Parts: sequence; structure tokens; C-alpha cells
Amino acid sequence: MYVGVDYYPEHWPENMLEKDLDGIKELGANMIRIGEFAWHLMEPEEGKFDFSFFDKVIEEAEKRDLSVMFGTPTATFPAWLAAKHPSILSKDEVGHVRAFGGRRQYCFNSPEYNRYASKITEEVVKHFADEPAVVVWQIDNEFGHEGSDWCFCEHCHTGFHAFLKEKYKTVDELNQRWGTIFWGQTYNSFSEIPMPVPTVTTHNPSLKLDYTRFRSASVNQFAHKMTDITRQHAGKHQPITTNVSGGFFDKAFDHTENVRVMDFVSYDNYPVWGGLTEPIPPAGIAMTHDFNRGLKDQNYWIVEELMGAQGHNVIGYLPRPNQAKMWSYQAFAHGCTNMLYFRWRGMTKGAEQFCFGVVDQDNRYGRKFKEVQSLFSEIQPYEHVLNEKITSDIAVLYDYDNIWSWKSQVQSASFDFNAELLRLYAPFYRHNASIDVIPSDRDFEQYKVLLVPVMQIIDEELAAKLKQFAEAGGTIIFSFRAGLKDRDNNIHFEKTLPGPVAELAGIEIYETEALAAHQTVPVKSTDGQESSGRVWRDLVTAKGAEVLWQYSDEFYQDQAALTLNRTGKGNVYYLATGLDATVLEPLALDVIKNHGIWHTETPEGTEAVKRNGHLFLMNHTGSSQTVCGETLAPFGSKVVKCKEEE
Ligand code: GLA
Ligand code: ZN
Repeated sequence: MYVGVDYYPEHWPENMLEKDLDGIKELGANMIRIGEFAWHLMEPEEGKFDFSFFDKVIEEAEKRDLSVMFGTPTATFPAWLAAKHPSILSKDEVGHVRAFGGRRQYCFNSPEYNRYASKITEEVVKHFADEPAVVVWQIDNEFGHEGSDWCFCEHCHTGFHAFLKEKYKTVDELNQRWGTIFWGQTYNSFSEIPMPVPTVTTHNPSLKLDYTRFRSASVNQFAHKMTDITRQHAGKHQPITTNVSGGFFDKAFDHTENVRVMDFVSYDNYPVWGGLTEPIPPAGIAMTHDFNRGLKDQNYWIVEELMGAQGHNVIGYLPRPNQAKMWSYQAFAHGCTNMLYFRWRGMTKGAEQFCFGVVDQDNRYGRKFKEVQSLFSEIQPYEHVLNEKITSDIAVLYDYDNIWSWKSQVQSASFDFNAELLRLYAPFYRHNASIDVIPSDRDFEQYKVLLVPVMQIIDEELAAKLKQFAEAGGTIIFSFRAGLKDRDNNIHFEKTLPGPVAELAGIEIYETEALAAHQTVPVKSTDGQESSGRVWRDLVTAKGAEVLWQYSDEFYQDQAALTLNRTGKGNVYYLATGLDATVLEPLALDVIKNHGIWHTETPEGTEAVKRNGHLFLMNHTGSSQTVCGETLAPFGSKVVKCKEEE
């Protein structure tokens, strides 16, 4: 098991190296992660490669039994490369060149960038391939993060045309499937097709979805090329990973495809970043871990675990004492097996002066140092528990085409995909049930419950798999707008909503309404409870399904808001509007109990994860809590062995 820190020795005078490494050892670390932004140091001039600095770092690390994760440095190219080949620079949607000065400003489709990035990757991997201390390679850094997944340059425009030609073969096929007859947009050739850059009103939805798919192909072809080069030259003892950033549902690339060629997934866990005044809610953090575990259906590493407040130009919430440690326990509970904290010491110069580390500018080993030290010593005895595979009875299904379809036309001003996924995820999380978060094209017959949030693109194949799942005894919970569109991002014709799953859900929908952020619609249950719906509402007519909740505002009191269709041996719920936890937590508990799924009740703001005969207990609140019989201090966390009955 590796525990350690992200270390940037190149930021500091060389005479600090040995003392830093001694301090990292004192922390209890056995790994450092280095190199990811140091291209210029390794190639100060074109073709002149010099790895002597990192040779020295690794030599000193080896003396202290510190292993090394080495990052290929293609996220930050040297100024001399941009000066010589400005065409490597990406362009934003209004055609502005992204100037040298930040990071990741390269175009994934630039032939020059691919050539130079391939060369530095080959040279650095070759140089350290036989280095025993270098035990893993990280490719680039957070692909597509900070807006770098998008580019609208000439390379991308011609690449898009080639992408479309490959997909549709003829422009007539494209015209027909895109519906370009609308607004007289019929193309005579692929070369006439624009990128979705600013226009008057809005672009064709099929064009927008296909351009996002092209973005995904662009990011992933580059990632796979760099990975292939690394695999070709790396030592047998050196597996390959890349570090996934937060905001993965907001990115224009399919993360499952991105990491398909990697040996394992790494994740950067920042429950709070920038100007946020509060961390994201515990369920939201937990879901990010379940998503990363789901990418390759295996446990994962964290190579950037937050310890101090973080931000570039604005910072916010300061993690309270032991809160960052508690977030680490939560990560381990959800499948993290090895953890590196970001970062050994905050840097006093450059763009991340306010991205604080384990140690800060005073170079004192203070509270945060002790917090990390205690985590490292407490967690390592549970290595055997952490390496156990996690199996869940519940799975959330997502599909990037569907997410990008919503991005292309949000329909409701208050719609947010991540929030709608959490609307279904959080009620089950609240009962501490284990949940997988997986792509919808993954096999899912082994589950007992499927949560299918706002899946507007449902093709016949998926509809058939879902029907088979329910009839075999599974429970499915759809939320609104299910089955609206086809894979070309167009509305199904002559299919009453919810389209391919109407029969499965036992309902029909004839009218719908978008709700703005300030709007709610009143609903009441058939046993007299009252609540409200947000974001959207489908007006549902039961066609065999049981009505559990219905609208109670004028005109729509005969329309259902939540239905249950018993089909085969299974149950299919349809959530027609954005109902909240007061409705969904009791429903989740019914479903959990109906399937005999392990769960436990804990106080609001606390979490219990059962793994391999142990309970991981986390207190996400600022007050003392009793969780599964254990007293947890504010932001406390611990692992205990399960008592027999648990
Ligand atoms: C990201 C990047 C790091 C650093 C941190 C700062 O995760 O991977 O290089 O920028 O954010 O919080
Ligand atoms: Zn480009």
C-alpha cells in the first residue's frame, strides 16, 4: 500500500531536497509523485533532453525507501514550443487563441503537438524504465480539465469533418439524420459544416452532440497515444494510470473510454475548491468515489487528496481539523487503495500560491502534517480490507451521450445533470447502502436495483435490457424525461412518452413543463402526505401503473407525479418531477428492505460503509455523533470490526 505526497522539488532550491525527503519520511509516506509539469526542465531546448535533476531526486528518494509515481509532462509544454509552433495552441469558441501562460492550452488534434508530446513521453519513459524506484506512470494531468476539453481551431474543424464523413459516409445521410432541412441548413458537402461556434439563436442539436462526441474522440485519441508510447517503453514493474479530475459529468469526453487503456484509475479528490463557502455534500463526495470505482469496475488510487484550502485566484472554506482526514477515510471506504496528498508544500510563487499543502510557506510541520501522519499510520493496517472488491446491489446508470444531449439543450433553466443523478443516489446513500455508478452499456443483470436518472436517450436495446431486468425481479427507478430522444439527439416520432419504456413503466405522458429555479409544483400522496416538485414535470397518465403521488395544483390534479408499475417479478417507479428526500428516502428504504439489501440508519450527516467485516464510520458534521454505537468527534472517522449482528 502506497501513501505519500505530491512533491515538486523543482519548485525549491536543490539544497532543500534532502530535508524535504526526510520530512516526507517523517510523515510516514512511502511514495512521492513527481515530474508532471516539468517538461522544460527535461527538455530545456528542442531535442536536448536532460533528466539529471530527477535522477538526483530519485536517488535521494531511493535512499529513503520512497517509491515514485512519475508524471509524463505533456500538460505543460515549454514556451519555446509555443513560440516555434503557435498552431499547437487551442482556440476557444470565439476563435481566440489560448495564450501560453496557463496550462493544458494545447490542441489534442495538433499534429505538431502530438509529435513533440510523443517525443518527450518516449524519452522520459525510456530514461526511467529500468529505475526500480519508479513504480508507476501517470499520463499527463487531469485530461480535459479547466476547459481544455474544448477547442475550435482549424485542426479541430477539419478533424470534425473527417469524423462526420467516417460516421455518416454520405452528406445526404447526415442531412437526413440531423434534420438539416430545418431552417434550410442542408449541406452539399461535409466541408460546409460549422463547428458549434456562436451564431444567431442556436445550432442543430445533432451537430452539437456530434461535436461533443468529436471532442471525446480527440481527447481520448491523444490520451491513448501517450499511453501506448508509455506502455511500449515502460519497465514491466511500471503500470500506467491517469488522474481524473472532479466535474467529470461536465466534461466533453467519455471517461470510461479514456481510462480503458490504463491499468487503473487515479482520482483527485477535492471536496471543496476555489471560492466555495462549504464543501460539496457528503453524498456528492461519495458519488464521485463510486463513479471512479465504476470506470474500470475496480478499486482506484487517489493521487491528489485535499489537505488545505485550494484555489487559484479565489479561495474559500478552510477544512476543519480532521475533516480532510475524514474525507480520506470516506475515500478508502468507497474503494481507494493508495493515497497521495496534494501536496507536500504549498508553492510561494506561480499560479497556485493559494493551493495549500501539508506544509505551507512557513515550512513548519503543523496541524495538517500531524493529521496526515495520523491517517497514514491508522489506515495501513487495513490494507487487506481496502483491497477487497466492493460489490453493490444498487447501480446508478449514466450515459455520456445522454449527458451531452442535456448539455446541448438544457430544456429547464434549473436543470443540472449532477444534481439529478444525486436526486436518486442520495436517498439510498442516506441509508448507507453500497451503490455503483456505471455506464448504461455495462452488464447490469447482477444488480437488484437500477437508478436511471433523466435518461432521455434510451434506445431499443437499452429498453429491452431494462425490461428483462425488471421482469426478472429487479427494481428500476426512472426520473423525468426518460425515453424522449434517439442517439441523433432528436425526439422520437410517433412514440408517446416515455417512448421505449412507456409499457415498462405502465404510463403515458402527453404534456410536460419546465420549472425555473424559483418554481415548485405541489404534490400529494394517495395517503394524504404533501410535498413539491422542482426542475421539471411530466404530466403522467397511469396505464396500468399504480399512482403513489399526484399533482395537486389546478388543471393537473388527475396527473401522476410518482408511479409504480409491477411488471413480471419486478417493480418500475417513474419519478415525473424533482421530488425531494422527504419523499425519496422512505421510498429508498422500502426498496432496500424489499430486496434485503444491507443498510444501517445513522444520524444526518454521518456515514457508515460496511466492507469485508469492518465498518468505516465518518462524521461529516461539526458536532459529536454516535454512529453504529461508536462516538465520533466533530469530523471524526474510524474503522471498527463489525459486531456479529451488523
Ligand atoms: C488539480 C491539479 C493539480 C493542482 C490542483 C490544485 O487537481 O491536478 O495540478 O492544480 O488541482 O488544487
Ligand atoms: Zn483544436
